[in-house]
Amino acid sequence: MKQVYMDTLGCQMNVADSDRMELLLFHFGYSRTPHMEDADLILVNTCSIREKAEQKIFSLFGGIKSLKEANPGLVMGLTGCLAQQDGERLLKRIPCLDFILGPDHVEDIPLAVDRVLETKKPLVWNDFDNKKNYSIPPVTGQGRTNSHPSAFVNIIKGCDKFCSFCVVPFTRGREKSREANEIYDEVRAQVEQGAKEIILLGQNVNAYGKRGLKTPVAFHQLLYGIARIPGVKRLRFTTSYPGDVTQEMLAAYADIDILVNHLHLPAQSGNNRVLEAMRRGNTVEEYLALIETLKTRTPDIELSTDIIVGFPGETDREFEDTLRFMEQVEFSSSYMFCYSPRPGTPAAEFQDDVPEPVKKERLQRTIECQNRLTAMRGEKFLGKEVDVLIEGEINRQGTTLMKGRTPHYWQTHFPGTANRFQPGDFVKVRVEKVAGHALKGQAVVQ
Ligand code: 5AD
Ligand code: SF4
Repeated sequence: MKQVYMDTLGCQMNVADSDRMELLLFHFGYSRTPHMEDADLILVNTCSIREKAEQKIFSLFGGIKSLKEANPGLVMGLTGCLAQQDGERLLKRIPCLDFILGPDHVEDIPLAVDRVLETKKPLVWNDFDNKKNYSIPPVTGQGRTNSHPSAFVNIIKGCDKFCSFCVVPFTRGREKSREANEIYDEVRAQVEQGAKEIILLGQNVNAYGKRGLKTPVAFHQLLYGIARIPGVKRLRFTTSYPGDVTQEMLAAYADIDILVNHLHLPAQSGNNRVLEAMRRGNTVEEYLALIETLKTRTPDIELSTDIIVGFPGETDREFEDTLRFMEQVEFSSSYMFCYSPRPGTPAAEFQDDVPEPVKKERLQRTIECQNRLTAMRGEKFLGKEVDVLIEGEINRQGTTLMKGRTPHYWQTHFPGTANRFQPGDFVKVRVEKVAGHALKGQAVVQ
């Protein structure tokens, strides 16, 4: 078999796309290698959400250029959001590249490799697939076996929201939902391969079903449908959009046992003027009202969010509002970012007037605030038993620990070895300590 080396940057959507490309390439005669030097094909699945992600890619290709010089038969491809955004231009910047595929061309990966090998000419496929529907054809025959107990299942792609700072609507195109029956089939197949937890994936999962489906199914109905599939022990989804949260979706948390009590709901800011400039489509009060409803019906819900600091025009006071807001909601974790202007987005036209050191300082304060909140949220698990889905083991300073996650998405570590605990097992762990974002404890012998 030939060998493919893959590097994946960015979000879980990219991780899922890379998995899919790996599977398609497997059927095309390529197995995955962790060693770049052994590869016949190198793929870098890129991200363009912030400038830092882009810089990483250019330095990565700088490092692998010499491999091509040593092995002229080596094929190198760049996929993902940067491919969509910069297309042709990337060939000039990274001359060793053989092909560039946008995210709507994941399915074409074997064809692209074949074409390059045959023609020996570089190619760029980054047009959008303008079909209104979204389908992921199953790959027939034996594939890799999924040994991870959590499986990602794409349910929707693209984004129609056009938040002023965000490049996603330009790189991933319009929202398109996948037919529910196709999703159910994939969930069943994942369970057969050993998955215990299903993670529904999309830029805006809760925009699912709003239009374009042959058989209309709303997001909450999809949740109920998946929960009925035998063998699905846990269900979660990421990422969602406040404006698409419905009362029915909130009710599902209380109704569906296997739907985890964790919601990742990006807020971005805790100030209304900034939210409006970001074109988020909701106010702080609206966000808080949703959370209030959810907390009333599902008191042990854990919340996480995304925060951007240093958006154009953000004053000290407006930034302080974000800290206050984070404390009010008591997020258990956050992804926090300095604003980074993205070419082609509306906010890129605004003056990026918050100086870099101020952005950094705000980010630092946001991180400190979140660390306090994380510790606080963690403490309430002390002395309690949590349900852990085991993912594998880790070795720390000579001792072997098992690792897994609670339904609330807390990473959990406890002593044990793989001959006693298997990935995919559920175990109760009594929590003794909170260390950063992890709970530590002992397995409860039953
Ligand atoms: N600058 C900083 N952060 C950004 N994000 C998206 N675009 C930008 C940008 N231009 C963040 C948002 C989003 C997450 C995936 O990335 O918080 O929710
Ligand atoms: Fe980007 Fe906004 Fe769409 Fe999220 S909702 S992907 S932040 S445009």
